[in-house]
Amino acid sequence: MMEIITLPYKYNDFSFLSEETMKNHYEILYKGYVNNYNKAFLDLHRARVENDYTNIKALEKNLAFQGAGAVLHQLFFENISPINKSMCDCLINKINEDFGSLEDFKEQFINNITNIEGSGWGILGYSKILDKLIILQVEKHQDQTIWDFVPLLVIDIWEHAYYLDYTTMKKEYISDIFNYINWDIVKERYKKEV
Ligand SMILES: [Fe+2]
Repeated sequence: MMEIITLPYKYNDFSFLSEETMKNHYEILYKGYVNNYNKAFLDLHRARVENDYTNIKALEKNLAFQGAGAVLHQLFFENISPINKSMCDCLINKINEDFGSLEDFKEQFINNITNIEGSGWGILGYSKILDKLIILQVEKHQDQTIWDFVPLLVIDIWEHAYYLDYTTMKKEYISDIFNYINWDIVKERYKKEV
């Protein structure tokens, strides 16, 4: 069973996101994914106990959808910070190696996830097999991945994450939130992989 994390900041701590946006995002969307993942987990447990796999396809799809949504929301809420932070030195060498420069990385990151079709996630991750930092557009969070891809930095660009404050100005939201990344967390996630 998955636990709901407590936020290390208040809903109104972010200068560029409203309290309403943050509260709805955490209370309704994130908690909903966790609760639905736990329900999906129990549904599968019941199927095993009853040896009834009639609905296994729907149950497994729901587990992936709810579980991926719950995990990505936890990563997202953990890797943003109400305190304006610059990138730490920890990742600079690898970013320079894989993207050319910090500026090129930032431009690719912002432009890449701005151009996701519709809703989804922009994710900087690390593939151990490829030994690369990679930015992925994730339109459906239950598929379209590289299977040893470990998310290091997750940005939510579903409309519920910004629309109240930014309406159609998605790129402005992404540019602003980029200045509020908790790079210490990103570094810790990266160091676990290398
Ligand atoms: Fe979200």
